Amino acid sequence: MLYRKLFAFTAFWAGCSAFTVQEPASRRVTSLSLSEDNMTTEGSRRSFLSQAAITTGMACFGEILSLQPANAVSGVSKVDAKLRGYGLPPLGPVPDGFAPLLEIYGKGKNRFPILVSFSHPITWVVQTPSNDVNGEDGTVQAGDYGKGDTATFFVYSDPGHVNDIASQPKELFEKALMKSIGQKGENMYQNFKVTKLVPVTKAGQTYVMADFKYQLLTGAGFEVDRKGVASITSEGPAVEVLWAASTSARFKKTEQNLRNIVDSFRCYTEGINMSDELMQYD
Ligand SMILES: *[C@@H]1O[C@H](CO)[C@@H](O)[C@H](O)[C@H]1NC(C)=O
Ligand SMILES: *[C@@H]1O[C@H](CO)[C@@H](O)[C@H](O)[C@H]1NC(C)=O
Repeated sequence: MLYRKLFAFTAFWAGCSAFTVQEPASRRVTSLSLSEDNMTTEGSRRSFLSQAAITTGMACFGEILSLQPANAVSGVSKVDAKLRGYGLPPLGPVPDGFAPLLEIYGKGKNRFPILVSFSHPITWVVQTPSNDVNGEDGTVQAGDYGKGDTATFFVYSDPGHVNDIASQPKELFEKALMKSIGQKGENMYQNFKVTKLVPVTKAGQTYVMADFKYQLLTGAGFEVDRKGVASITSEGPAVEVLWAASTSARFKKTEQNLRNIVDSFRCYTEGINMSDELMQYD
């Protein structure tokens, strides 16, 4: 089974009583997260802690809406099977110590669906978008958050679909990356600079690989030098970015991993039928 549908009655009732007091009916939702210690890759079995964030959209008075699939599909053979099911090319080689993930971004009514896949260090914690009655929020991200190493998917929708991304001016990539690093709103930064852009073709799709750097301004008033790499493409009515970054101090150590991550990035919107996996609303 590709995903499990879980329903937590306790959380349901707790959620109902907890939320009844202050929340309007449309916002009566609750969420819970589970951990599971299980992952199989081809040939060898490796165990790692994967965080399955299961958000259960629920309303108290009869309109039970929909249940979100569990965490992203992971494991080489599972991801390849899923890609095959969509008629898409399989994953390329997954580097040692890496795990692939595949997730649909845009299951909610406020977004358009994008099949996103990339590989990340096996110990990194994966986060996926959450859905409730109002739509979808959040993104696909993997990270070693304590160290500040992250890989984050971002949809830059301002320009719509961009034909022939490889021939676009540097400005497009600068804007896409600046929006990406500022995506949470609270991320303030300065001295952003794109240092390299290289287009590559992968099974008929074009991705532009970027190197960039910036200074993150922390809430405590410090400046942290950060370096990153990204892969940028345009599928459907937007520009999609997977960017991976760490502190400049760690970059010597993390660079190869960050490059492996963005090299493995693929996204698809056309010619695949994701309708069974989108959120259903009453
Ligand atoms: C762990 O993975 C194995 C092999 O895919 C599967 O048979 C088993 O049900 C899984 N266990 C859990 C708890 O998901
Ligand atoms: C997509 O799949 C669903 C269910 O499997 C089916 O009802 C629908 O007609 C399909 N859409 C297209 C455009 O093939």
